[in-house]
Amino acid sequence: MRLDEFLKLNVSEDLAQITTTIAQSCITVWENIPFKSGLLADVNPSGERQKAIDVFSNDVFADALVGTGLVREVASEEMEEAAAGKGRVSVAMDPLDGSSNVETNNPLGSIFGMYSEPLPCSGRNLVGALYVTYGNSITITLSFGKGVHRFAAVRKGPEMSFELLGLDLKIPEKPQVYGVGGARKDWIPPVRDFVDSFEGRGMRVRYCGTFVGDYNQVLSRGGIFAYPALVGKPAGKLRVLYETAPIGYINEQAGGYATDGTKSILDISPRSLSETSPAYLGSAPLLHELERLVSAG
Ligand code: F6P
Ligand code: MN
Repeated sequence: MRLDEFLKLNVSEDLAQITTTIAQSCITVWENIPFKSGLLADVNPSGERQKAIDVFSNDVFADALVGTGLVREVASEEMEEAAAGKGRVSVAMDPLDGSSNVETNNPLGSIFGMYSEPLPCSGRNLVGALYVTYGNSITITLSFGKGVHRFAAVRKGPEMSFELLGLDLKIPEKPQVYGVGGARKDWIPPVRDFVDSFEGRGMRVRYCGTFVGDYNQVLSRGGIFAYPALVGKPAGKLRVLYETAPIGYINEQAGGYATDGTKSILDISPRSLSETSPAYLGSAPLLHELERLVSAG
């Protein structure tokens, strides 16, 4: 089944068109990564000046989304203020997650949260979320509140389209992998102790440095991705609106749990567009155990 057919059957026209627009735009972003990443400096098919790939991605997605006429606003990690539109859905995005991986050609991603209320607001107002992986294939993993589904970009003739890869994905309860951002010496002590127990549980470290890539393998294999509270930086690094609430929503729809250490990430009401929080996501039993340890200090 193609993405547009799936959307027609499962979501409102507004959400379907917003999602289709993101899907088309992510192909444009992907096609431009080699030209705008600094790897092929000054080489550009249309002869324009080079732009950093993250600014380029931001503009491609923001212009296309505002152009649908269906979004109230588009807030982005790359913009200080949200771009205004005339519709009803608020979109918060990280247009190019993991951009420090551009030079090494390691995985990159894009993250989108679709909210029913003006931003900033809590993840309980999400009506849909998706993330794109630019890995060995381009995939879109999405949820509109009825499970998690995945599509992959395929080329048939000149056009690329997205075909269904997996319906109703569930995160395995048995944890196999873990990835924790920041430096070990800076993690708060309960996190350090908890991570020390992972190898004894048969888990293996897997870390690529892109939130989307690191979370994506946790969804497939079970386990945990964390960007924890740090000593001296208690609010961690990842942004609630753009990054952790959308992926936390997908994670819960896959049967997992996402916490800031004391409560669900979806219950955070950020006061600013770029508010951060500690973030721990993955298999529910492991995450509930972590929440107990972190809450107890
Ligand atoms: O968006 C921030 C980000 O690039 C995430 O994609 C990633 O998880 C994190 O930073 C990695 O941070 P660090 O390099 O500190 O481990
Ligand atoms: Mn990011």
